[in-house]
Amino acid sequence: MASGITRLKDKTAIVTGAAQGIGRAIATRLAAEGAKVAVCDIQTDVAKRTADEIKGAGGAAIAVRLDVTSLESAAAAVAQVERELGPLAILVNNAGWDKLEPFIESTPETWDKVIAINFRGVLNCCKAAVPRMIEHGSGKIVSIASDAGRVGSLGEAVYSGCKGGIIAFSKTLARELARNKINVNVVCPGPTDTALLRGVMEDRPKVLEAMQRGIPLRRLGKPEDLAGAVAFFVSPDADYATGQVISISGGLTMAG
Ligand SMILES: NC(=O)c1ccc[n+]([C@@H]2O[C@H](COP(=O)([O-])OP(=O)(O)OC[C@H]3O[C@@H](n4cnc5c(N)ncnc54)[C@H](O)[C@@H]3O)[C@@H](O)[C@H]2O)c1
Repeated sequence: MASGITRLKDKTAIVTGAAQGIGRAIATRLAAEGAKVAVCDIQTDVAKRTADEIKGAGGAAIAVRLDVTSLESAAAAVAQVERELGPLAILVNNAGWDKLEPFIESTPETWDKVIAINFRGVLNCCKAAVPRMIEHGSGKIVSIASDAGRVGSLGEAVYSGCKGGIIAFSKTLARELARNKINVNVVCPGPTDTALLRGVMEDRPKVLEAMQRGIPLRRLGKPEDLAGAVAFFVSPDADYATGQVISISGGLTMAG
C-alpha cells in the first residue's frame, strides 16, 4: 500500500462502523501503515467491499459483522478477529448515528437509539476488547467522539451528551488501564463530508453553507483528514499519550 510507513506492521486492529465514511478512511489508513484490519459494521456487504478494496491495494483486511449496540455481538467479533488475524492490539470505536432535531421535539425512542449506538456501543466494544488487551500486555484504544461533545451542537442534544460521555469515559478508562499499558484517547471530528452529515443536513443547505463559512480553514473535513490523527494515537509514536482529546475540525473549535 501507498504510505511507506510501517509503524503498525502486523498489529491486529478493529475499526467499528468501518464500511463507509470516516471509519472506512481510518481502516484504509491503518492497513496502509501495516495493520491487519477488521472492517466491522452492521452493513456487511459494504464492509466486505471496503475490506476487498483494502486487500486490492495490498493491505490485510477482513469484513466482520459487529453491531456495537450488542455486547454479545462485540464479544463474538473480538473472538473471530483474534482467530483470523491474531492478538488484538488496536480498537477504534467509530460507529455512530444521529438524528437532527430540537431536544423538546425528540422522543425517548430516539434517545435510546442514539445512546445505544453512540455511547453504549463504545462501552460494549471496550468491555469485549480490554480483557484481551490486558492479557496481551498492551493495547491502544481510540474513540471517535465529536466537537459536539466538547462545545455542544444545535439539534444534537442527546448525541452531544453521548459524545461528551465518551470523552469522560475515555479519560477514566485511560487512568484505570495505564498500569496495563493500554492507551485510551479520543479524536473529535468537526463537520465532515460523509453520508451521516449529508443525511442530517439534507433539507438544510443554508445551515451547511453557514457551517463551512464558520470553519477557519474554510471547508468541511474529509474522512481522510481524521485518519492521520487516529493512526498517530494507535502507533508507538503515542506510547506516552493517554487520556487525550484532539479536535480535527479545521479550527472550528479551539477548546483549551
Ligand atoms: N460526519 C461528521 O460530520 C461527523 C462529525 C463529528 C463526529 N462524527 C462521528 O464520526 C463517526 C463516523 O461517522 P461518519 O460521518 O463516517 O458516519 P457514516 O454514517 O458515514 O458511517 C457510520 C458507519 O457506522 C455504521 N454503524 C451504524 N450503526 C452501527 C452499529 N450499531 N454497529 C456497527 N456499525 C454501525 C454504519 O453502518 C456506517 O457504516 C461517528 O461516530 C460520528 O458520530 C462525524
